Amino acid sequence: MAAAAIVRGPSQQVSRIWRFAKFSNRQSVGIRAYSALMSPPSKAVVYEHHGAPDSVTRVIERLPEEIKENDLCVKMLASPINPSDINRIEGVYPIRPQVPAVGGYEGVGEVYIVGSAVRDFAPGDRVILSPPSSGTWQTFVVKEQSVWHKISKDTPIEYAATIIVNPLSALRMLEDFVSLNSGDSIVQNGATSTVGQCIVQLAQLRGIHSINIIRDRPGSDEAKETLKKLGAAEVFTESQLNLKNVKSLLDGIPEPAVGFNCVGGDSASLVLKFLRHGGTMVTYGGMSKKPVSVSTSSFIFKDLSLRGFWLQKWLGSDKATECRRMIDYLLSLVLEGKLKYEMEMTSFDDFHIALDKALGKLGSQPKQVIRF
Ligand SMILES: NC(=O)c1ccc[n+]([C@@H]2O[C@H](COP(=O)([O-])OP(=O)(O)OC[C@H]3O[C@@H](n4cnc5c(N)ncnc54)[C@H](OP(=O)(O)O)[C@@H]3O)[C@@H](O)[C@H]2O)c1
Repeated sequence: MAAAAIVRGPSQQVSRIWRFAKFSNRQSVGIRAYSALMSPPSKAVVYEHHGAPDSVTRVIERLPEEIKENDLCVKMLASPINPSDINRIEGVYPIRPQVPAVGGYEGVGEVYIVGSAVRDFAPGDRVILSPPSSGTWQTFVVKEQSVWHKISKDTPIEYAATIIVNPLSALRMLEDFVSLNSGDSIVQNGATSTVGQCIVQLAQLRGIHSINIIRDRPGSDEAKETLKKLGAAEVFTESQLNLKNVKSLLDGIPEPAVGFNCVGGDSASLVLKFLRHGGTMVTYGGMSKKPVSVSTSSFIFKDLSLRGFWLQKWLGSDKATECRRMIDYLLSLVLEGKLKYEMEMTSFDDFHIALDKALGKLGSQPKQVIRF
């Protein structure tokens, strides 16, 4: 039996009934005979089966949800659309919520109501969901207090909403594969991605030169300038690297021992071309949806190694405390103006426009962040 809950948030009617709310108003409504603290009704982006995100997602009204004694009900403020969110909806991501599901993985909100046993949070606190999480594309999220992480209210909400998936991956990849020292270099493709922009800045903070590859597209000159302002040592479009000895372009920068690949196909081959003998290429994404192919000579004569990175695997290995420490570090860099990346905030009412942009249907676009 649920314990009686105390409402400490903005006044909420303590409901005398508990409605069994699923994702559709068509579904059954049951009645319990005891009091329960309830969230407000929520507006959510849900999908009932996997498929093309622009056709399987819809925005629905969800019925109020019970807030148990250790739960927080959080009014969401912002949540991004990341490529992995799209992959989850498509059903191609190895770990994904069971359908029907609410979309979204990371986000920021404000504590709205706390359960009766909650002592460490109060209404008005700014919180993010610590990973692994799910279901952030909705106006109110109810989850157990242990999954919420309190942050400073000074943090701009678009950064608070996006600090985990991409910045944390950039940080881990710089630390986990090759020991890098000041003066060393790294090479990466997909440098305009949020991960790529973070790698540029986190590398520069460590005195590491970044060699960056971007695709040829309208606006690539502006993209180069943006990356240089963030601290990129070199930025090349793929077509500029259509030459035998790409290393001749490295004006005094040492050959990199590690490269990061989030594109695949020919772009991954360009990363390999820059690596020094015995170097490692870490693949963490496949934006072109093309496979990585490696010449036999790369293995025999250059002794290159190929590795993979998956944040979710790293998070799965009992890293909760370390993860929160790193999130705080990354947020401190944001507050100090040392970590920034391009984003576009879009109102929740225009969710499907933001989704089309995130799907690349409207050309190259900055990271889409939903504002609730
Ligand atoms: N393994 C992990 O744990 C992990 C963690 C975080 C992210 N990731 C992966 O990292 C990648 C980047 O994520 P993000 O959120 O940082 O990206 P993002 O900010 O959403 O930006 C998308 C990036 O992909 C590029 N792109 C889009 N379509 C492309 C195509 N057809 N061919 C080549 N490039 C294309 C874009 O280039 P333009 O600027 O030219 O449009 C841009 O650089 C994704 O694959 C994501 O799944 C993996």
